[in-house]
Amino acid sequence: MSRYEQLRDELRQAPRAWLVTGAAGFIASHLVETLLSLGQRVVAMDNFATGHRRNVDQSGAAAADGQFRFIDGDIRELEDCRRACEGVDIVLHQAALGSVPRSINDPLATHRANVDGFVNMLAAARDAGVGRFVFASSSSVYGDHPALPKVEERIGAPLSPYAVSKYVNELYAAVFQRTYGMHTVGLRYFNVFGRRQDPEGAYAAVIPRWVGQMLGGEPCVINGDGETSRDFCHVENVVQANLLAATAPAEATGQVYNVACGERTTLNEVHALLREGLAALRPGASFPPPQYGDFRPGDVRHSQADITRIRTGLGYVPTRTVADGLGEALAWYVATMEGAAPSQAPHPARP
Ligand SMILES: NC(=O)c1ccc[n+]([C@@H]2O[C@H](COP(=O)([O-])OP(=O)(O)OC[C@H]3O[C@@H](n4cnc5c(N)ncnc54)[C@H](O)[C@@H]3O)[C@@H](O)[C@H]2O)c1
Repeated sequence: MSRYEQLRDELRQAPRAWLVTGAAGFIASHLVETLLSLGQRVVAMDNFATGHRRNVDQSGAAAADGQFRFIDGDIRELEDCRRACEGVDIVLHQAALGSVPRSINDPLATHRANVDGFVNMLAAARDAGVGRFVFASSSSVYGDHPALPKVEERIGAPLSPYAVSKYVNELYAAVFQRTYGMHTVGLRYFNVFGRRQDPEGAYAAVIPRWVGQMLGGEPCVINGDGETSRDFCHVENVVQANLLAATAPAEATGQVYNVACGERTTLNEVHALLREGLAALRPGASFPPPQYGDFRPGDVRHSQADITRIRTGLGYVPTRTVADGLGEALAWYVATMEGAAPSQAPHPARP
């Protein structure tokens, strides 16, 4: 039995009180879904800056009688953070303004949500006596450091305001651990994907954007020559990392961990996998070849994680490969975009 399977059994037997911020967003809605399925008590907070109420509904919140409370609150408001932290054992802090280009266009908005909001959450959690503070950091912290794979202690200069904000989060968390004795864990997510990731808007992530374009019969635009690579990571692996970090012994805290699969896939390969997957789901449909555009400012050329630290420190073992995860996400997007989304989206072969 893996550490994660063991942990899920333990949680079922001894439920805890969790706060998940950013719960109307992509990743946090999966955290809520898993926690509720394990019988946990969950407080969720979001201000719908980029999130959607449908994500809260699809996380099983509606059916979670008395187990779930939603706060329409803003992490930029200290009082909202205090209200949310009351009676909570563990915080999974996910709320932030994502996207490198957004932060380049509007660094102040990114700073207010990702830095001011983060410090509010830390202070509120400290004052409420929260036992564990797990937060979403990002592979963007590696900046211009050329080494591959990325090892936690070797980082370069940040390439965007978003990357600065995530690095500042890590510094603040370390200071709150040292100064106030809090137990914090930072998770440097690489490129996360899966059902419910938003395909709409100027700052949509690449996989849902391309799926939307393919289903609409439009060509996908690949920034650069398509040989840019990323360590794509299915959201189920990210959920696992959060639960392990939330319950690991105190010696494992005060650290940051990479969360990824430890592999590299190029944008051209992702495009081909999506095209093949959609062709299988929609036989007879034709999908135009991609168009190649300029490289995006602030983007690094290659990204791949070394996941040794999280494997050995937290017992993390990714259960979803990129190809398998893409298949699951594709089936969901096709059902959703064609207006047949079930209220509980399918998740075949869940471990
Ligand atoms: N998706 C990825 O590939 C990825 C990679 C690295 C790090 N991350 C980090 O993971 C976390 C979750 O990302 P996601 O992809 O689910 O993004 P998302 O945009 O889907 O979710 C973020 C949520 O935070 C909420 N939010 C924003 N500002 C807020 C505020 N002031 N108060 C309350 N709520 C607020 C949004 O409304 C949204 O629902 C973020 O911290 C992000 O920076 C994501």
